[in-house]
Amino acid sequence: MDEPEHATDFQLHLGDCIEGMRKLGADSVDLVVTSPPYNLGIGYESYEDKLSSEDYLAWSREWVSEVKRVLKPDGSLFLNVGASPKNPWMPHELALSIRDILVLQNTIHWIKSITVDGPDGDPHSVGHFKPINSKRFINDCHEFVFHFTKTGNIPVDRLGVGVPYADKSNIKRWGHTGGRDKRCRGNNWYIPYETISSRNKDRPHPATFPTELASRCIALHGGPPDKLTMMDPFLGIGHAGVAAGREKVSTFIGFEIDELYLSEAKSRLLEEPG
Ligand SMILES: C[S@@+](CC[C@H](N)C(=O)[O-])C[C@H]1O[C@@H](n2cnc3c(N)ncnc32)[C@H](O)[C@@H]1O
Repeated sequence: MDEPEHATDFQLHLGDCIEGMRKLGADSVDLVVTSPPYNLGIGYESYEDKLSSEDYLAWSREWVSEVKRVLKPDGSLFLNVGASPKNPWMPHELALSIRDILVLQNTIHWIKSITVDGPDGDPHSVGHFKPINSKRFINDCHEFVFHFTKTGNIPVDRLGVGVPYADKSNIKRWGHTGGRDKRCRGNNWYIPYETISSRNKDRPHPATFPTELASRCIALHGGPPDKLTMMDPFLGIGHAGVAAGREKVSTFIGFEIDELYLSEAKSRLLEEPG
């Protein structure tokens, strides 16, 4: 059966991303949206998620250096990483370990679940999380998305992910709105996991991010999508690629070391209608 036509040119590679990125030209990628292994002992198909902390950070510096080389001067790395209750420093250690390579420009909190007390005083809960049974830890309902750039001074399209004003009188009152009913969303992004009926069938991977997370990163980076080259060096089953296709990004480059995950990503990206 012929594959459907896509607006996006998908370049999907099986293998180690550091070796793969070395074959790409310098200054050739606009944005990287990725979630590397977190070194928390996750049960991936083939990758062993259990390096010593020193080795993990040294390896992280290696792949981030390669990302820096391929990123354009105004490029963005959106680095999604979470912690575990027993390893709460990991995201911070990772971010700190690469601070001489790239500049931390924004920190976004990906909120998976939240409870907000309404005006009536009643708590309203949304989203899902995997509950832990513990006397000392509260449930972890968020992960980080660190936005790194080469200079820390790269314009982003805040209103590309903006939200309408709750109080419409602000539109006229504040000159900076330019009459638009859009304000900056801020850095707390509530994005629940898509509901699935069968993990093996619908999401056969232990550590994914939702497509919407990557879509928002594309919008925040800004620029016409059909002029963008996007990359995910740790493709997993391809959610960054699904976002690239959905947003009609021109070129998407993905690397995945595991054959099974790559073939799942390929079937999602190449066999779905464009
Ligand atoms: C956190 S998961 C990414 C999941 C992805 N964001 C998704 O939504 O499907 C990290 C992935 O990196 C892959 N991986 C580990 N080491 C790699 C390497 N050196 N090069 C490429 N992929 C690698 C693992 O097999 C795993 O699928």
